[in-house]
Amino acid sequence: MEIEAISKLKPSQIAHFDCGVEELNFYLKRFAKKNDRLGIGRTYVLLDQVKAIGYYTVSMAQIEFESLSHNFQQSLPKYPLPAVRIGRLAIDKNFQGKGLGEHLLMDSLERCERVSKEIAVFAVIVDAKNNKAKDFYIRYGFIPFIDRNLSLFLPMSTINQI
Ligand SMILES: CC(C)(COP(=O)(O)OP(=O)(O)OC[C@H]1O[C@@H](n2cnc3c(N)ncnc32)[C@H](O)[C@@H]1OP(=O)(O)O)[C@@H](O)C(=O)NCCC(=O)NCCS
Repeated sequence: MEIEAISKLKPSQIAHFDCGVEELNFYLKRFAKKNDRLGIGRTYVLLDQVKAIGYYTVSMAQIEFESLSHNFQQSLPKYPLPAVRIGRLAIDKNFQGKGLGEHLLMDSLERCERVSKEIAVFAVIVDAKNNKAKDFYIRYGFIPFIDRNLSLFLPMSTINQI
């Protein structure tokens, strides 16, 4: 199974995609390619043969100092910290529960790690769409921000150890 940039795909390869969350289906079909072109979000698509069965979208972001717990704040400057955001991550309903979500998450974290070698990244942020998705990320060590219920982060220092 290959992971391909959205810019290389045709609409027919993504038209059937259904992860069970309409907002995530809609984004892939209507905005992923456009936002890639605009430099707003890069989308990478997991393919089964030629058909999309999963995707994630990444872009640069920042973390507000005030969103971190006292533990983290102690060793950090009091200004916004550089981050990468995995804004969306989804697997088609017919392929969920087979380890592919984990596969995509690891691919996205490796990508963030590569970027961090050239441009400083303090942490990777994820925005979970609901509490179920939040639980998925918590399994991998993501830490909730203190002021936002469905946003979490994983320090790059932790990712470097995976
Ligand atoms: C959340 C999602 C990406 C997980 O993908 P998946 O391919 O089904 O997950 P995997 O098969 O890789 O599961 C990896 C591990 O996480 C666990 N897991 C999967 N979904 C979970 C959830 N919602 N909560 C807690 N754990 C979860 C699995 O049991 C598995 O653990 P195990 O190896 O001990 O059995 C997928 O279910 C999905 O696309 N959901 C709809 C869209 C969505 O909510 N996206 C999330 C962020 S925006």
